[in-house]
Amino acid sequence: MPVSCQNPLGLEGFAFVEFTAPDPDAQGRQLERLGFIETHRHPGQKVSLYRQGDIHFILNAEPFSHASDFATRHGPSACGMGFRVADAARAHRLALQHGATPVEGVYTPFGDDLLALQGVGGTLIYLIDDSQFSDDVLSGWVPLTNPPVRQVHGAGLTRIDHLTHDLPAGQMQVWADFYTRVFGFESQRYFEVDDRLMGVDSQTLIAPDGHIRIPLNESRNAFNATEAFLSAYGGEGIQHIALETRDIYATVEGLRARGVAFQAVPDPYYEMLDRRVPHHDEDVARMKADGILIDGNARRDGILLQVFTENTFGPVFFEIVQRKGGHAGFGGSNSQALMEAAGLDQMRKGLLRV
Ligand SMILES: [Fe+2]
Repeated sequence: MPVSCQNPLGLEGFAFVEFTAPDPDAQGRQLERLGFIETHRHPGQKVSLYRQGDIHFILNAEPFSHASDFATRHGPSACGMGFRVADAARAHRLALQHGATPVEGVYTPFGDDLLALQGVGGTLIYLIDDSQFSDDVLSGWVPLTNPPVRQVHGAGLTRIDHLTHDLPAGQMQVWADFYTRVFGFESQRYFEVDDRLMGVDSQTLIAPDGHIRIPLNESRNAFNATEAFLSAYGGEGIQHIALETRDIYATVEGLRARGVAFQAVPDPYYEMLDRRVPHHDEDVARMKADGILIDGNARRDGILLQVFTENTFGPVFFEIVQRKGGHAGFGGSNSQALMEAAGLDQMRKGLLRV
């Protein structure tokens, strides 16, 4: 997307997400289980590129680096993300002018002329010039094999749909302001009331290119999923990465067969589903067998199908989504629906007597 008043830095979507872990081999195996394949290695560092569809994940196992510091501090985690931009040097200059903090003296796979900004919880935001990403490969990296297309498209995951930040109380506005001021993101709020009932306030930041989408979750009490993440992870950071598929049933069934574990969904969720999401055209029995959730309205704003893995890298997990009919939400009403379904489930099992 060209530079414009709406898109001053010329953002063009996610380039990659960078992961690190104290046990990088185990992390690589987990990515392979999710259908990724290692396609390239850095010529001089212990850094690999994993691919599936248009998704690029960097696994950084280089000692004495930003990534190794991160692994020591947080365990397995996402320590950086790349934004594709029309002109990285220009985007970096403008970002600094708008108050972003530069990254200097940090050892990364991207050389001395690193163009990166400080992101949430010390993660790095790399500005990746589109020309560096030609042929979908970071220039200079060593190709391992010529993997067959079938392998690169392993589980049918095609692109990064969104990536969330989990934040302690008081930090949501700080990061909303950062993305708005520096990159021109816009804030969208979905199901705010439901989120507050869950002890979490949320908003989603959408980049001017429409492709980089970052939901922010701010903890509002001591008992919620965001608080659990903050405590297990040791501070704010990237909580989950959502990946898009064009056939969520085939993807989930394929991943389950490979041994990927998904978060359980209480049975009553599926009994309440037709009332919650009218006019859908989904096979509820198959949804239930696969643990797939639904949100939206087929006749109004389309449908979102989504499913969450169990925690994969420490408290970091993945989401798989399929969007139908242009649905633009993130499944906000599912939090409350799952809570109600879990309550009903417990009542039926006699754990709660009311
Ligand atoms: Fe999500």
